[in-house]
Amino acid sequence: MVRLAAILLLAALPVAAQDVAPQRAAALENMLIQDCGSCHGLRMTGGLGAPLTPDALADWPDDGLVATILHGRPGTAMPPWKALLSPDDARWMVGRLRQGVTP
Ligand code: HEC
Repeated sequence: MVRLAAILLLAALPVAAQDVAPQRAAALENMLIQDCGSCHGLRMTGGLGAPLTPDALADWPDDGLVATILHGRPGTAMPPWKALLSPDDARWMVGRLRQGVTP
């Protein structure tokens, strides 16, 4: 029964979420809104940080965005997150941002 629930949960998750466990995905989603949102806006429409809406990210390749998240942008307010996020975590976040994050 537990296994069935897990399968159903996995099936319901968007494609980009499959690289990280469901529990981790929930933590990352929270982090996007609470931590990233504090600079990028609750709806990722920008604030101190650049907008991270699907439109705003459309021209950036995934790898560049993953690198920005892990290493930050030296000389700007964008901090490195590699102490807290694995490359898979960062890639999941990029996939999630491309779907549009609204709390
Ligand atoms: C302390 C403020 C701050 C926090 C917190 C923050 N960012 Fe940023 N972020 C910035 C700023 C400022 C920029 C723009 C840097 C520049 O001018 O090139 C940026 C840029 C980016 C970019 C590149 C987008 C672009 O168009 O340049 C991505 C992707 C990004 N942030 C993701 C994240 C994620 C994901 C988190 C949470 C894990 C996060 N940021 C948390 C300030 C922040």
